[in-house]
Amino acid sequence: MEKTLAIIKPDAVQAGYTGEIIKRIEEDGLIIRAMRMEHLDRKRAEGFYYVHRQKSFFNELINFMTSGPCVLLVLSAYNVINRWRNLMGPTDPKSGHPDTIRRAMGTNIERNAVHGSDSKDSAVYEVNYFFKGTEIFER
Ligand code: CMP
Repeated sequence: MEKTLAIIKPDAVQAGYTGEIIKRIEEDGLIIRAMRMEHLDRKRAEGFYYVHRQKSFFNELINFMTSGPCVLLVLSAYNVINRWRNLMGPTDPKSGHPDTIRRAMGTNIERNAVHGSDSKDSAVYEVNYFFKGTEIFER
């Protein structure tokens, strides 16, 4: 079964949206295989967002992602990468449908409430970045 990494980002945790986001995940039929709360340090966040290291927004992104605890999740389901991305909505919350998590709970293109892997390759990298095999409950 396909897997993806989801993050409930510091803005959404701080705003008290964790439960609502988990409810949406489960109501859509996506299965939570692993979950942990973690306050990322700079090294951990920089390694995770390595592909964005040359971007103008990189430093701000790291400041944001280390500003408070996140909730890290491994989700699985048929076509879960696309299904979680559809629930999240586009990177910029204001351009998404009102039902999407980012539109409902995000603030702007940086403080956008949640993260999801964008491809099968990045899902493998991201799941393994945060979770050991023994922490992922397949059934
Ligand atoms: P995410 O899906 O976690 O992937 C990279 C993150 O960088 C993105 O969500 C946003 O939080 C942030 N990001 C992407 N584009 C921009 C931008 N133009 N300005 C600021 N932050 C951005």
